[in-house]
Amino acid sequence: MDIKQSKILILDYGSQYTQLIARRVRELDVYCEIYAWDADAEDIKAFDPQGVILSGGPESVHQDNAPTLNEVVLSLNVPILGVCYGMQLLNVHYGGEVEGSETKEFGYAQVELTHSSELFKKIDHTILDVWMSHGDHVKALAPVFTATAQTTSTPYAACQHIDKPIYCVQFHPEVEHTKDGRAILSQFVHEICGCKKLWKTANIIETHVENIKNQIGSDKVLLGLSGGVDSSVVAALLHQAIGDQLVCVFVDTGLLRYKEGDAVMAMMADKMDINVIRINAQEHYYDALAGVVDPETKRKIIGELFIRIFEQEAHRLQGVKWLAQGTIYPDVIESAGAKTGKAHVIKSHHNVGGLPKDLSLKLVEPLKDLFKDEVRQLGVQLGLAEEMVYRHPFPGPGLGVRILGEVKAEYAEVLARADHIFIEELRRHDLYDKTSQAFAVFLPVKSVGVVGDARRYEYVIALRAVETIDFMTAQWARLPYDFIELVSRRIINEITHVSRVVYDVSSKPPATIEWE
Ligand code: XMP
Repeated sequence: MDIKQSKILILDYGSQYTQLIARRVRELDVYCEIYAWDADAEDIKAFDPQGVILSGGPESVHQDNAPTLNEVVLSLNVPILGVCYGMQLLNVHYGGEVEGSETKEFGYAQVELTHSSELFKKIDHTILDVWMSHGDHVKALAPVFTATAQTTSTPYAACQHIDKPIYCVQFHPEVEHTKDGRAILSQFVHEICGCKKLWKTANIIETHVENIKNQIGSDKVLLGLSGGVDSSVVAALLHQAIGDQLVCVFVDTGLLRYKEGDAVMAMMADKMDINVIRINAQEHYYDALAGVVDPETKRKIIGELFIRIFEQEAHRLQGVKWLAQGTIYPDVIESAGAKTGKAHVIKSHHNVGGLPKDLSLKLVEPLKDLFKDEVRQLGVQLGLAEEMVYRHPFPGPGLGVRILGEVKAEYAEVLARADHIFIEELRRHDLYDKTSQAFAVFLPVKSVGVVGDARRYEYVIALRAVETIDFMTAQWARLPYDFIELVSRRIINEITHVSRVVYDVSSKPPATIEWE
């Protein structure tokens, strides 16, 4: 089965929501890819989509060097949906007028459907709650377009071509706040473009397993297992495809979550019967980090040591031909980007070291066409524990960035335990999934406390919890006071070396999520 047979192309004009459009389309069980707005005509033709979506973008069509309509999409003779900036581009192309306005329309708005449209066929009411995010708007509609929706501030909140399957919306159907967004996208993708629902988890696993088998044959594959979601899912998927030909190396850095090393072995080696070599490198890491306080140097040491240990192990193994990596689709999109550098995809940042480059192994990256949500769904389906698959993100350098200043074994132990108490209570109080990331931070300063009649000077633990969509901006989580009190009391009572717990009330920006 070719599960990529039905597919949609999304041209990225730089909107912060472009990836969200792609995720929505995939949730509709249809494959899609994101190309930069100025992608080569030949590549676009070769992709051969059944429909095209033009994303929004931060630019104004009137700005110098603003991204322009990639006209090849018109020659494909497939349906097109222009979202926000995409709508403005299509209007300008067909002779309409777009004007800037002093005030940006941002946030919730109500749209009234004014004209029957194929695009809104699944909607049985005329007033829609939508999400707007634009500065410019269409002032005069192109003669080939008919308006299909209005707001109190514009008569052109949506429009469509009079005789071609070209549709435009000024609002963002991909955003959760647009209540009928899914119905609109489904109508476009399934009915207007006629895409079949082939992109389903079970099919993805089946096809990926098949592809891996074909690619790898009877060779051996090496994988660095970190305990994180991506590498665990790669392991589970490869294991399903090639069983014992997979060898995983798991390096316990001593900077992992509480008892993470044992948990990884219990899940991957014992439960799933995957070949895992555990390397206890804790002392190595603490030695290498002794006396180092600069955060960037710490990151570098941790990354390089991982590569060294991993390489040593790889050289000991006989006959390995492939190195598996947990690259996922957003990594691929982010490293591609627009040629003209105008459409800016938000970058995820600072990943440590990467993996060895000089092992002369061939690369296998079985998740590179999947979004994180899809990777998680695959993981659950492949038998990984849901609790593990839906965990908060954990930085590559681990506790190395959460122990301020010098890293010591003693600090790591205190921090891992405090963090564990915090996470355990968040789960117990049903708050874990309401926060995007939560953790404890170790402050190497001593503060006074009293136990019985005695004063004692011990370390400070900071609790950090944030709510965020994209980790680029974040709000500190408004956890209940009583809950914080409970966590604080447990940490101080159960961990002798902590005398004080504080709660971080900084949002990002100006603060960052990690303390480093
Ligand atoms: P900041 O602290 O920059 O963090 O607001 C944003 C997100 O990135 C994670 N983070 C890292 N992840 N290696 C990683 O793999 C790192 O060095 C690193 N530093 C921060 C952080 O946990 C948050 O999710």
